[in-house]
Amino acid sequence: MNNFEFKNPTKIIFGKDQISRLAVEIPTNSKVLVLYGGGSIKSNGIYDQVMTALESFEVLEFGGIPANPEYAVLMKALEVIKSHNIDFLLAVGGGSVIDGTKFLSAAALFNGDDPWEILETGKPILKGLPFATVLTLPATGSEMNSGAVITRMEIKEKRIMGGPGLYPEFSILDPQVIQSIPQRQIANGIADAFTHVMEQYMTYPTGAILQDHLAESILQTLVEVAPVILKDPTDYNAASNFMWSCTMALNGLIGQGVPSDWAIHMMGHELTALYGIDHARTLAIIAPSHYRYNVESKKEKLAQYAERVWGINEGTTVEKAHAGIDKMEAFFHSLGIKTRLSEYTAEYSGTAGEVFNRFTERGWKGLGEHKSLTPSDAEKIVEMAY
Ligand code: NZQ
Ligand code: ZN
Repeated sequence: MNNFEFKNPTKIIFGKDQISRLAVEIPTNSKVLVLYGGGSIKSNGIYDQVMTALESFEVLEFGGIPANPEYAVLMKALEVIKSHNIDFLLAVGGGSVIDGTKFLSAAALFNGDDPWEILETGKPILKGLPFATVLTLPATGSEMNSGAVITRMEIKEKRIMGGPGLYPEFSILDPQVIQSIPQRQIANGIADAFTHVMEQYMTYPTGAILQDHLAESILQTLVEVAPVILKDPTDYNAASNFMWSCTMALNGLIGQGVPSDWAIHMMGHELTALYGIDHARTLAIIAPSHYRYNVESKKEKLAQYAERVWGINEGTTVEKAHAGIDKMEAFFHSLGIKTRLSEYTAEYSGTAGEVFNRFTERGWKGLGEHKSLTPSDAEKIVEMAY
């Protein structure tokens, strides 16, 4: 096991009817900006619960943060923060609203000329304006990590940022919020969380027994609850397990002391930037090809996963590895998620070359656990996913 230091300061408040806890968790006398997305919180009752809990605070609101949070929209929210001397941000939403809020937390204290630098340089953010979240969509784990992904449509870029200063102060996770989530987004959440685990686990054997078992148990839980929650989002037990699995998949814990990959996400972000495909679906497009392309270097771990998660005990190591990849692809299909780029856009033919160019221009030489995946490997993987 590699050396590691681990500190996750986010307090989790989990369970039924916990949104009311905002009243006591936000520091008294805070001037709060409530940030949200396209309005789902107004029709499902979450907005009312939040506003009732915030009655004793001075509150402003900023709605309209779109999926794949858009830089231009966030810059308008930044003006509100600055002109009203906001000192506490409250994200009420899924990964997009939470990530947008993380950017704002950093941008509010940024000293340079242009906040785009935060995303261009990717320098770790050591301090941000305090913020908390009310999670409305389990998927990204953003409610308990310090990363964010921001889109700037005018230049078709989707960039990552983060740092130890960007953990939420606290996050409220009420599994009842799942009841109003459309099937498509529930499926996305399951696929995203599944891939988060895979990116931290599907590398090579390192003898980190606990990390392996933790990762495998999250995958197994997602596989077990997926059909239940898709059939009945009001099933509180399934909703709780789904929600906590998504948080555990990317709160840092399972990735400590082990190598990680993240190449699927890096390629997937390009597909969102180019075609606006939902984040989770880009992962379902890339993951099968990525693992098939890299089967030689990942075969031991792929076979272990095939055995432990899917019960595949027959065949050679490579055969088991391939069977495990097939199972993963079938799992995405069972969620109603297509796994070929050509099923999402008719203009797919130049994509692999475009991804190669973008990675090369950015000087990204090596992706993956060995930092050995070149832009030309990425090109081949994307092409395999057509
Ligand atoms: O905008 P509203 O009207 O609220 O509707 C949203 C949105 O259209 C809707 N929704 C959310 N909660 C709902 C609901 N509808 C009904 N009932 C509810 N309770 O769902 C739609 C999608 O929301 P979004 O926040 O975009 O989804 P998700 O949570 O999947 O977030 C995706 C974003 O997170 C980034 C992705 O790249 C993408 O930009 N990621 C962030 C990560 C992180 N910070 O750690 C890691 C991930 O790998 C990912 O990259
Ligand atoms: Zn993801």
